[in-house]
Amino acid sequence: MTTSMTAHTSSTIQAFSDGRKPLAEMRDISIAFGGIKSVDHASLELYEGEVVALLGHNGAGKSTLIKILSGAYQRDNGEIFINGEKATIDNPRDAKRYGIETIYQTLALADNVDAAANLFLGREIRTKWGTLDDVAMEAAAREVMGRLNPNFRRFKEPVKKLSGGQRQSVAIARAIHFNANILIMDEPTAALGPQETQQVADLTLQLKKQGIGIFLISHDIHDVFDLADRVAVMKNGRIVGTARVGDVTKDEVLGMIILGKCPPGAIPGPGALAS
Ligand SMILES: Nc1ncnc2c1ncn2[C@@H]1O[C@H](COP(=O)(O)OP(=O)(O)O)[C@@H](O)[C@H]1O
Ligand SMILES: [Mg+2]
Repeated sequence: MTTSMTAHTSSTIQAFSDGRKPLAEMRDISIAFGGIKSVDHASLELYEGEVVALLGHNGAGKSTLIKILSGAYQRDNGEIFINGEKATIDNPRDAKRYGIETIYQTLALADNVDAAANLFLGREIRTKWGTLDDVAMEAAAREVMGRLNPNFRRFKEPVKKLSGGQRQSVAIARAIHFNANILIMDEPTAALGPQETQQVADLTLQLKKQGIGIFLISHDIHDVFDLADRVAVMKNGRIVGTARVGDVTKDEVLGMIILGKCPPGAIPGPGALAS
């Protein structure tokens, strides 16, 4: 068992690294709840400027795996490496120290205050007299929002008045302003319409350009196929396989999701159906 897991990790790294060191590497991660294995010997890595989509049915273990990386859950087994060094991630604060930020579906924004206030929630800039430095915070908000969403103008409005896509960009701005280089987005477009989904796609490409690595969790293959560099498919807590999007078809990825069948263009994981 262990031998094949190690083989999977090193083979995916050889196949996808081009000699680079991963920003993040999860190695042989497992976690069980009440004796049921939600994540079972999962290995996955992420490179600079890369979008890795994590696909699979509801309950496949996607959120649980990334919650281990973001420190929300503590793994039973396995190791995490950040920039090639073994990392200690036992809680969300640890993860943030390693530059890992997570954007949950709920976004966790403070609805009654504006974009700048949300960006600095709990980490406000103060003047030398100890008062809030609204000017500095708004300038910083304009700078970071300008990079992400140049058309955004609604700096003076409470975020509850913004569209879903704009709210999403505020949440992302908050994450990256504090030097995240690994961003986890769990079902970011689940509650959005087509236009706003496109906005999130544009944001994702901006982040890629800045070298940020992104884990994009989704259950919608069409949603991610254009956006991701690689896909990893989970089923019953196990990685079925990982592949560059150019090396597999959508139908093949559906076969991975539904049947656990690993196509020739993908590197099989522990969850691949024995052929
Ligand atoms: N805190 C928890 N307590 C008990 N079971 C959990 C907990 N978190 C996740 N699970 C279980 O782990 C499995 C994987 O869930 P999840 O990671 O949310 O799947 P996905 O995100 O792929 O839909 C599910 O069976 C879920 O019920
Ligand atoms: Mg989930």
